[in-house]
Amino acid sequence: MRTNDWFKKMSFYQIWVRSFADGNGDGIGDLYGVYDKLDYIRKLGVDGIWFSPIYPSPNADYGYDISDYRDIHPDFGTLDQFKKVLEKAHSLGLKVIMDLVVNHTSDEHPWFIESCKGKDNPYSDYYIWRDRPNNWDSLFEGKAWEYNEQRGQYYLHIFAKKQPDLNMDNPRVREEVKGIMRFWLDMGVDGFREDVINFISKKEGLPDGLPFLPAVNGMPYYKDGPHIHEYMAEFRKVAEEYDCFQLGEGPMTTVQSALKYLSGPTKSLDMMFGFDHMMADCVYTEYIHRPFSLVKLKKAFSKWQYALAGKAWNALYLENHDHPRVISRYGSERFHRESGSMLAASYIFQCGTPFVYQGQEIGMTNIRLWNIEQYVDVSTKNNFHTYHVKDDIKDRLKRIHLSSRDSSRTPVQWTAGKNAGFSKLKPWFYVNPNYRRINVEAQEHDPDSILNFYRKCLALRRHSETLIYGTYREYFPKDPNIYMYERRLKDIRYLIVCSFTRLPLRLRIPKEYAGKKGKLLLCNYPEGRQLMAEHFKERLKQEVDLLAWEHGMLRPYEARVYRFRFTKDKGVQK
Ligand code: NOJ
Repeated sequence: MRTNDWFKKMSFYQIWVRSFADGNGDGIGDLYGVYDKLDYIRKLGVDGIWFSPIYPSPNADYGYDISDYRDIHPDFGTLDQFKKVLEKAHSLGLKVIMDLVVNHTSDEHPWFIESCKGKDNPYSDYYIWRDRPNNWDSLFEGKAWEYNEQRGQYYLHIFAKKQPDLNMDNPRVREEVKGIMRFWLDMGVDGFREDVINFISKKEGLPDGLPFLPAVNGMPYYKDGPHIHEYMAEFRKVAEEYDCFQLGEGPMTTVQSALKYLSGPTKSLDMMFGFDHMMADCVYTEYIHRPFSLVKLKKAFSKWQYALAGKAWNALYLENHDHPRVISRYGSERFHRESGSMLAASYIFQCGTPFVYQGQEIGMTNIRLWNIEQYVDVSTKNNFHTYHVKDDIKDRLKRIHLSSRDSSRTPVQWTAGKNAGFSKLKPWFYVNPNYRRINVEAQEHDPDSILNFYRKCLALRRHSETLIYGTYREYFPKDPNIYMYERRLKDIRYLIVCSFTRLPLRLRIPKEYAGKKGKLLLCNYPEGRQLMAEHFKERLKQEVDLLAWEHGMLRPYEARVYRFRFTKDKGVQK
């Protein structure tokens, strides 16, 4: 039975296992490595883990092409090993959620193999077959239709050719999805992150898309399709039999359509990953780069914060396995420590459940490879070969360096030793050469490291009702360099100030804070450490006069978190 909103207090850590930690010494990350690192994850201060797909897969899309929904990829271990991880995670107080990828399977899934055999086959209608393709493009590889000789028809694949779309209009397919959910829930997992879930219902007749919208021309006919909420309601029923948490991935979703999944009579998800804030330096995809705009980022943040307030709950993230590293995008590799830690404060204190992606907590950065053959991600290769603006190879590689998903998939940098401590053997993919400088071991020993700042942010959020449930308000939305937001509950207010520039800045103060005194709880420059320690001992007596810091300067990429107690007449009280 659903006990509802336990997930609101939580924060999550996302694991993309292949690059997390190699426990059995074959150069590939696995569940043995995860098992050994669970204490590290717990110490970060999160309460749950989201596993990107760990099922058998031919890896055309690194696990998002599943060939068996009820087993573990042999590269990662066995079902028994997974159960051990699950048990240990639970004993440490960590929830575990799995990736549920049901828009498509692998073309090596037995259902597809059967479906190819002909129209009389019991699996014939598991996929979307046509005699004649429409004009849709795939998001990953050329056209969205591939001819299958054996069947003598075309099948739809919104993603790679090896990822045929399931036909969710077939009730048997929906029963399969429910069976998969039950299989993992019965084992004890706590929920699902549901891959491209807003794509699972396609418009009847599959009409042609607009010819002038490359790659996304079919999207109006497969995003938020006609039966989506019926199908989602069926899956929700299964989730409700358990205490199952559901998080949907919603590519290109607007906040209005997200609300339909998150609230009201069609509520079928607890949270949704939106993408608006991932486009502050690009148009639709990171491959179409533009200079970073803080105003755009803030607009996206606040749009979701205001629209969901009181109605639904946000999923907060800055990184995952689909995006390049955030320091390389919205921060500064030169001001690595400062911008990496500031970025943590820029999102963890918003209203919602924060997600931290592996390596983000030490500020891993984009990798720069020298030719396209070195990259392994299917969409990276497709972008390189298809969507170039200029024919110039250097320009195309530069775009790949800025945009590739492979940057978030390099092995996690654990130590300054061989293979960054990820594996004894040569890792399956390139280690970012900066591992000698950027690694967990070094940051463990440095109280002012990005890692330790993440720990402080997550601890502060977890101990504050205001930071979990308080209302959100943004100040100075047009300011091109500072992101300032407030969280408020009853008479307590937190003010979070983040500088997004390498230039020192004079701090602006919201009118209502002028003359008020607040406590500086957290700061990403060295003195912040002391402040935080004192906060937890509840010994911090000293209050900061805001008028005093009005004349103060914000240092490059500085982040500060203040706490105030407002009363009606006096404004501030101890
Ligand atoms: C979204 C996943 O996050 C991404 O990695 C994958 O390539 C696509 N969905 C297709 O499954």
